[in-house]
Amino acid sequence: MRLPTRHLLGIETLHPRDISAFLDLAESYALLNRSGKTRRDVLRGRTLINLFFEDSTRTRTSFELAGKRLGADVINMSVSTSSVSKGETLLDTAATLNAMNCDLLVVRHKASGAPALLAQKVDAAVINAGDGMHEHPTQALLDALTIRRHKGTLEGLTIAICGDIAHSRVARSNILLLIAMGSQVRVVGPPTLIPSGIEQFGVSVFHDMREGLRDADIVMALRLQTERMSGGLIPSAREFFTFYGLDAAKLALAKPDALVMHPGPMNRGVEIDSQVADDVTRSVIREQVEMGVAVRMAVLDVLARTALRNA
Ligand code: CP
Repeated sequence: MRLPTRHLLGIETLHPRDISAFLDLAESYALLNRSGKTRRDVLRGRTLINLFFEDSTRTRTSFELAGKRLGADVINMSVSTSSVSKGETLLDTAATLNAMNCDLLVVRHKASGAPALLAQKVDAAVINAGDGMHEHPTQALLDALTIRRHKGTLEGLTIAICGDIAHSRVARSNILLLIAMGSQVRVVGPPTLIPSGIEQFGVSVFHDMREGLRDADIVMALRLQTERMSGGLIPSAREFFTFYGLDAAKLALAKPDALVMHPGPMNRGVEIDSQVADDVTRSVIREQVEMGVAVRMAVLDVLARTALRNA
């Protein structure tokens, strides 16, 4: 597998062939992880630094686990106790880590484009772990892997992404990936939470959940990203749940075997009802988390090999 760059900054730059190759490799890691044979030598002697300027449970932990399972030395930078709190800039922080000969730098930042900026300044391979409202490529890859494991393909599936599309990097990366792989993508939400012109990405827009979920194969609920909202975009969380919260009645409009997904963290009773989130016959939310480790192992593996080839 040959990536166009030595970094993973977004889905936008990936060819469908790269996406399939990532998913195939991640599938093999998923099987290895389930077998308990997780220790590999792929990253032995390599250093992975997790640099998270925003909170995270799933992404940070799974990159740490993925790096350790592949034999890397893994360091988690705590930004709140680092010299960032003394005013050190993002670029100076990255230059400092670069001087320690870090090989892989996993970055989450509230500013769109921050990982791309770092990628121009450091020798390490940079992986975007979520930048503002821009992209979250490994989340889209793990979502795709989860779907493919259940449906066998992404092509031809109808996938409804519901809720706060406007502020969601998960929505953006998923739309780019799923359209590239031949899915029919619908975005469903109130007009205030759907960016104007989003149709140019090839998606259909719905403001009524009953229409948007009808005969869907996959229903993906997204959290209201209140930390990125300025002003009141919804009347109240309670009203949002009434019209756009994924509950059993709304899910009944999708196909009988439709899967329920959520990238997490969930706000129960806001964008998703507990009965639906915890229904093991429909919800694959826990499996998404499991696939997150496998996908991140595949990404670290490929980027480390790309760096070796370019050395
Ligand atoms: N889905 C996701 O990015 O979760 P975290 O914020 O917990 O990493």
